[in-house]
Amino acid sequence: MIQSIEDYLKEVQNFVAQGKEEMEQFRIRFNGKKGILNDLFAKFKEVPNEQKKEFGQKINLLKQSVAEKLESLKSTFETSQTEVKEDLTRPGFPLDLGTRHPINLVRNRIIEIFKSIGFAVADGPEIEDDWHNFTALNLPEYHPARDMQDTFFIETHPDILLRTHTSSVQIRHMEQSEPPIRILSPGRVFRNEAISSRSHCIFHQIEGLYIDKAVSFADLKQTIQFFTTELFGKSKIRMRPSYFPFTEPSAEVDVYWGLNSETDYRITKGTGWLEIMGCGMVDPAVLTNVDIDPDQYSGYAFGMGIERIVMLLYQMGDIRMFFENDIRMLKQFSLV
Ligand code: PHE
Repeated sequence: MIQSIEDYLKEVQNFVAQGKEEMEQFRIRFNGKKGILNDLFAKFKEVPNEQKKEFGQKINLLKQSVAEKLESLKSTFETSQTEVKEDLTRPGFPLDLGTRHPINLVRNRIIEIFKSIGFAVADGPEIEDDWHNFTALNLPEYHPARDMQDTFFIETHPDILLRTHTSSVQIRHMEQSEPPIRILSPGRVFRNEAISSRSHCIFHQIEGLYIDKAVSFADLKQTIQFFTTELFGKSKIRMRPSYFPFTEPSAEVDVYWGLNSETDYRITKGTGWLEIMGCGMVDPAVLTNVDIDPDQYSGYAFGMGIERIVMLLYQMGDIRMFFENDIRMLKQFSLV
């Protein structure tokens, strides 16, 4: 009798089931009403007294190992059952990848180019005060050049405005650091202009500033030429005298685009030249305003509108497209 329990124990330990069906047969065979365990318990009475203890222990062991086996079989089949619900061969849901906005693509490219020659990115607030946007930049109250940038003021606080250029970030940066300074300030700017295909009341600028000992106009020209070569693959530039209150001398930069196609004629108005940015040597009065000694240091600054450059690079005809979030436009900048 004891021997047969030992055999049952081995059987239980070695049992494997292919599915729920076989597991159920196993359960009935051992745990059913007329199953092996009940049968053995019934035979307990017939066992001679001196064997009762050992017999009892063995049956209990068998009962326990049947229970453990059933438990482990159950958990196997239950988990695999939920997996079966999923069709593993079904293709995954296609993830709709977003695209980068063309303004960001070009901004990042410009940052990359200037980073490679040591410029870092500086950030500042879009809601500015008069000092950082105008006065410190050599544009005191009633200066006629303030009219060049139609400004949104906060009605109740005439000193607070939406920045009209990111030159304000340069003032903030110069106030807080010592030369050498080499920064780029990209960001949104606001001007109270009529919205048309060529101009908008919100647009993006990226401005650069370099302050150190003995920085010259030649450094400025060289830097801009490096930039146009990297961005457009065009190294022929010209500088026309211009006026900005915060730079002296000031210049407007044109890049020679060429006249190879009809579009070239159209966007350059038949001249082959395209205006891309304003620049100049930082006015000593600006350096004084931010406590940098103009006798020791000099520097250059430049600034450009990102939309204009995107429109050139991608031949886009209407600035309003950038702010409409039309998915048909955005999808064309998909990276895949
Ligand atoms: N801040 C000028 C603008 O918004 C651009 C500029 C920057 C010009 C730096 C010269 C030097 O028009």
